[in-house]
Amino acid sequence: MDAIERTMRTYDQIAEEYCRKTERQGDREFQEKMLDRTLSFLPPSPRIIDLGCGDGRDTQYLQEKGADVVGIDISRGMIDLARKKYTECAFLRSDMRDTVFPNDTFQGAWASTSLSNIPKSEVSRVEKEVYRILEQGSIFCFSFKVGEKEGFEESIVEGFETYQSYYTLEELKRELNLFDVIDSREYPEEIFNNSFMYCWARAK
Ligand SMILES: C[S@@+](CC[C@H](N)C(=O)[O-])C[C@H]1O[C@@H](n2cnc3c(N)ncnc32)[C@H](O)[C@@H]1O
Repeated sequence: MDAIERTMRTYDQIAEEYCRKTERQGDREFQEKMLDRTLSFLPPSPRIIDLGCGDGRDTQYLQEKGADVVGIDISRGMIDLARKKYTECAFLRSDMRDTVFPNDTFQGAWASTSLSNIPKSEVSRVEKEVYRILEQGSIFCFSFKVGEKEGFEESIVEGFETYQSYYTLEELKRELNLFDVIDSREYPEEIFNNSFMYCWARAK
């Protein structure tokens, strides 16, 4: 079983508790500012994909703001939870490395900390797939844990491990050749002892 499959199986088991633990009010306000910033780069009613959508809270927010949005997640447990919580939104179980969407389907892609679960050796596959399904000039916003290490580590749900890749902005700029980084923002405080960063990149 590879790192992504092992992580997916863990999320299947911990979906509800994981989402409950990450639903802190302060985080939400900042997250919504970051979602609004993403929308500010896009045309009205943009087509957006939420990559690794978890319980779908960002998918729902984007839809509420007028986007035509679909949330995808590799974990069946997460997708089932999202469908239960936000019945009005579209969700699909899918691997972000290989989706069913035709070329140029979306104008925006949003990945809130989901690149963290992708081993560094697989990130260029994600980049190529996201680039393929985005129109030229589209915006890809992703948030990530700042650092350099990667490997399995204890989840915020005790007794479970997920794969975590940490990045620096410089490393991601080097890695993502199909995109130009146009903006970035640090999360103002640590969450669960980690520093987070948001980055906006435009498809070349
Ligand atoms: C850290 S959680 C973040 C969830 C949500 N985006 C949020 O901010 O609350 C990462 C999510 O990415 C999903 N994920 C991990 N690898 C994936 C992949 N290859 N394709 C699609 N989703 C993936 C996980 O199942 C998990 O729900």
